Amino acid sequence: MIYQIYPRSFQDSDADGVGDLAGIESRLDYLAELGIDAIWLSPIYPSPMADFGYDIADYCEIDPMFGDLAGFDRLLAAVHGRGLRLLLDFVPNHSSDQHPWFVESRSSRENVKRDWYIWRDPAPDEGPPNNWISDFGGSSWQWDESTGQYYLHAFLKSQPDLNWRKPEVREAMMAVLRFWFDRGVDGFRIDVLWHIIKAEGLPDNPINAYWTPDRTQRDRLIQLYSTDQPEAHAISAEFRALADSYGDRLLIGEICLPNDRLARWYGTPDRLQVHLPFNFQLIENAWDAASLRRTIVAYEESVPWFGWPNWVIGSHDAPRIAARVGEAQARIAAMLLLTLRGTPTLYQGDEIGIGEVQIAPDRMRDPQHLRQPGLGIGRDRSRTPIPWDESANAGFSTVDPWLPLNQDWQSRNVAAQDRSSNSLLCLYRSLLTLRRSHDALAIGDFTLVDAADEVLAYQRRHTDECLMIALNLGDKTRPLTLPTDTCVAEVLCSTLAERPMDDTLAPNEGVVLRLREKR
Ligand code: GLC
Ligand code: MG
Repeated sequence: MIYQIYPRSFQDSDADGVGDLAGIESRLDYLAELGIDAIWLSPIYPSPMADFGYDIADYCEIDPMFGDLAGFDRLLAAVHGRGLRLLLDFVPNHSSDQHPWFVESRSSRENVKRDWYIWRDPAPDEGPPNNWISDFGGSSWQWDESTGQYYLHAFLKSQPDLNWRKPEVREAMMAVLRFWFDRGVDGFRIDVLWHIIKAEGLPDNPINAYWTPDRTQRDRLIQLYSTDQPEAHAISAEFRALADSYGDRLLIGEICLPNDRLARWYGTPDRLQVHLPFNFQLIENAWDAASLRRTIVAYEESVPWFGWPNWVIGSHDAPRIAARVGEAQARIAAMLLLTLRGTPTLYQGDEIGIGEVQIAPDRMRDPQHLRQPGLGIGRDRSRTPIPWDESANAGFSTVDPWLPLNQDWQSRNVAAQDRSSNSLLCLYRSLLTLRRSHDALAIGDFTLVDAADEVLAYQRRHTDECLMIALNLGDKTRPLTLPTDTCVAEVLCSTLAERPMDDTLAPNEGVVLRLREKR
């Protein structure tokens, strides 16, 4: 399992209210005990923090807020010392406007780095060169008065898009990957990989006829020419070739596309791309058994034979799973995430079920929300600090944290859940232990099983072991239907403390069963 750390909010060690590398290092025992395999760190590089680290001013340094390179090396060694892996966030689509490359690029039209970014003359009407809309709202183009051109930014204007058609840019970014691989990092999560290169000529994107005002400005257009270009796959294959040249390294692509187009990011058997194109469907899907069933099967069918599936249940960009499905179903979500076929990614804080966090308007920091208020798309509520214990500031910091804590931190914190054997945290630990000790869960086949309404059931099979998972997504008692000629050999796990010893699933109950053939 991959565990995503949002460094600003994991653990502060130097009393500035913001998490840091030394803080993470001090919490590694917790992660090892949880039973994870790898940590993915959201960006830790020098950044003006306009997009909280996704605006990078130096790809090969550590922001002083988080520590320094020596501290990073210590963290990496400590992670490896516990048999865990460390993945960094690689943000190749854009840099910060404070990055020296962009400072040079915008200094004059003649500068050698001018076309490291995407500069265009105004349209004949003096407006932006095309109709593209930034993912954070407004035009994707920013006018630069002093050189009389526009530059492209898929996100904030302080996040100019790099020009991946320029060989020098590719070389410089490959050198960045080498810098970190040489230091020993185990791989990368690649930010907005499907954005990396734009269609030649930058044509207008088509209008989305289905757009309604409750959706973001971005969705007014279909990002046909600004994302998912054939050339991007070639770049993705280059990343993979480089990673493979280092041996056992992992590449994850952040890609938001439907199955058929997502699957292409695995590459082909003779030209592989990323190992795991992130699959966000558990985040996006309605929380009901019938549609989850369809989604899981369709995704399973879309993964090529040489590819490996993956599932994500939360992130620093998405609403918290417990806020979305509620406390009882958050336990079902845990069991689902850890029993499906494929690598699970867990976002920090979801293992203790942090739910909706109220944030006063004057404490909201997320630029996506601040630029388009009223749509409920604020990401701050998923980025609040981890409540570790009942002490001041929940043990996260000795000072007021940069974002408020979850309101229920005095009862919902790591220490409290550690003490209570029925907690969500303990369920996560049990499920991870189970996954480790049963190959059927880790690498077994997946098949859907017929089930009662509101129940999602499937089998995981490896050699002669057959496990069945049955999840009651509703709040009514439901029959537990076993496949013909099988019976329960053992109940390996239930999401509830007391499992009724009969052929039913209690409301909101999920179980992992070992089946055997009836004689
Ligand atoms: C990715 C990140 C998100 C960031 C955006 C721009 O989607 O996950 O947090 O705002 O890229 O870099
Ligand atoms: Mg700090």
